[in-house]
Amino acid sequence: MDVICWQGDITTLKVDAIVNAANTSLLGGGGVDGAIHRAAGGALLEACKKFNGCATGEARITPGFNLPARYVIHTPGPIWKDGKHHEQELLSQCYQNSLKLAQEYGCESIAFPAISTGVYHFPLKLATEIAVNTIQDYCLASDYDPQIILVAFDANTQQVYQAVFNQFGLDDKNK
Ligand code: APR
Repeated sequence: MDVICWQGDITTLKVDAIVNAANTSLLGGGGVDGAIHRAAGGALLEACKKFNGCATGEARITPGFNLPARYVIHTPGPIWKDGKHHEQELLSQCYQNSLKLAQEYGCESIAFPAISTGVYHFPLKLATEIAVNTIQDYCLASDYDPQIILVAFDANTQQVYQAVFNQFGLDDKNK
């Protein structure tokens, strides 16, 4: 399993799947959700309407339409309250269920945004540790060996990603 962190706009990546930090309506919003819908075009919203929403921690897959990515995997992350409302477990489920769909659809490259760390206020370092742990555990247990990109949209997120990568002994290819 090859995991790297990269700073930039996830909508520009030509990978098999990009993951969208959606909300439970799946009808778009701001942040990365808004960026993905804008880049994919109106057909993405029409495809999302068919799901009639998605529970937090679950995931749904659609084509990428006008995006360079083949698929978009939509997963509503948890809204951070106080860490006592299963936020950590729900965030882990976002990564697990996204990887499960990616594997089912034969994706060999997947890019994740920092799910829940924007509008949903999940603490960034904890979210990154959950992401790395969940990705490693899932890929090992499921014999799944994709190329995974954790996308930072800003320098602060990239710094935290790199610190967590060092903590986990992951090769930071950004050096
Ligand atoms: N590419 C990569 N990452 C991005 C992009 C982009 N184009 N735009 C924003 N991000 C980053 C943010 O900087 C943040 O680090 O995605 C991360 C997640 O932030 P949000 O998009 O706010 O998502 P989240 O915290 O999960 O909140 C989800 O916000 O946009 C609404 O509809 C969405 O209601 C949902 C909520």
